[in-house]
Amino acid sequence: MSNDPGQGPGRSHWGSRLGFVFAASGSAVGLGNIWKFPYITGEYGGGAFVLVYLMCIALVGLPLMYSELIIGRRGARDAMGSIRALTSHSTFGPAFSLFAGLLAVGGGFLILSFYSVVAGWAVHFLAVSMKLVPNAPEGVEATFSTLLGDDRLAVSRAELVPVLWHTVFMLMTIIVVVRGVHRGIEAVCSKLMPALFVILILLLGYVAFTGGLGQSIAFLFKPDFHKLTAAGTLEALGHSFFTLSLGMGAMITYGSYLNDDRSVVRDGVVVAVLDTVVALLAGLVIFAVVFAHGLEAGAGPGLVFKTLPKLFVAMPFGTPVAIAFFVLLIFAAWSSAISLLEVVVAFAVDSAGIGRGRSTWVLGGAIWLLGVACASKAPLFDDLDNLTTRYMLPIGGLIIAILAGWILRPADRAAGFVALGGEQGTLARAWLVIIRFVTPVLLLIVLLWKLGALEKALPFLFGA
Ligand code: PHE
Repeated sequence: MSNDPGQGPGRSHWGSRLGFVFAASGSAVGLGNIWKFPYITGEYGGGAFVLVYLMCIALVGLPLMYSELIIGRRGARDAMGSIRALTSHSTFGPAFSLFAGLLAVGGGFLILSFYSVVAGWAVHFLAVSMKLVPNAPEGVEATFSTLLGDDRLAVSRAELVPVLWHTVFMLMTIIVVVRGVHRGIEAVCSKLMPALFVILILLLGYVAFTGGLGQSIAFLFKPDFHKLTAAGTLEALGHSFFTLSLGMGAMITYGSYLNDDRSVVRDGVVVAVLDTVVALLAGLVIFAVVFAHGLEAGAGPGLVFKTLPKLFVAMPFGTPVAIAFFVLLIFAAWSSAISLLEVVVAFAVDSAGIGRGRSTWVLGGAIWLLGVACASKAPLFDDLDNLTTRYMLPIGGLIIAILAGWILRPADRAAGFVALGGEQGTLARAWLVIIRFVTPVLLLIVLLWKLGALEKALPFLFGA
């Protein structure tokens, strides 16, 4: 469609519609689904939290996903460039695109630096499970403490371990992004995603025999509203767009590689559903193992890296099961990390005109360096995690909702929706109402809460 701004002939595109679905769901399905969702569900008490999370996916996640795809598909540039192209008519346009663009590029940069460290732990545990590297004599728990940087007395050699695995993981990510959208990202995600599903189904079959599955189903799907706290509700809201890779331009960037004739209105739903199914299945598997051993669900962030490895060792076929689980985790993290790096690289390529090869190595190298600092300094790791997931992503999401709902020209908005394959019917109208009135309000609530304002204004709600 030649009237699209910036739709240059040389721009890369997805090879097929399925390729886009694999890449976008690859971005969405990540550590957020297999590491974070189970542990926060455990901490916030199960069923009722899951129900709120599902509602948030529908009311915040999906509308934001469409907004990002529309902006990217119509803008046909990196996150900042697309927003700049589509807001040129507005007085606030330049300020908006600069702010949103910085959040996107900065978000990709900062998130990937610690994301890669966590993914590195998974690579480490895979290597341990395959007996490629020796485990610390005290067992996996000690290894995890060292990896997390808990153990300040750890010898310097032990501190190198997480740096080493983080380096391996960053190289894996760079090598894919360097090859480009079609030959790199799409080719790899088209293999990783089906494999991920097969592994997850196999693990589910396994826990059906080892026990705990019934308890796990009840925990995840039987809501007990007494356990639902305000904090849990807001956590569910925040997580709903982290898990769908929203609020930092990943879906804008991926949407910008869509061809004119791709119809992706349905695909947006498919990605959200796949993401949710993976989170729920991962939760089922993990809690089945936990309950089969008579343990509690609320183990916290160590659930997957600390609790599970110990339990696997004691189970029948423990070694192949542990290997399968960590391969699953690595595949999920890998395809997400690729999208994080792509947001940053697309900016360098589209907005700064630097070649893909050079951008990927230089920016990937800089992210690696920050990751090295994270791997050895636990406080820095926590700060970056908090800064990005608590503040930058919700602010980014809010800006994108305002942009899509209020600032975009009606013609661009309509054309964007039609270009995604949607009709200008009920669906488009429902989306517009939600993105204008529901999503921004919900996001504002999360933000105020995160900033502590809500807690101070309404102390009774938080039991303070
Ligand atoms: N969605 C990814 C996950 O669940 C994380 C992510 C966030 C990826 C933002 C890209 C952008 O792990």
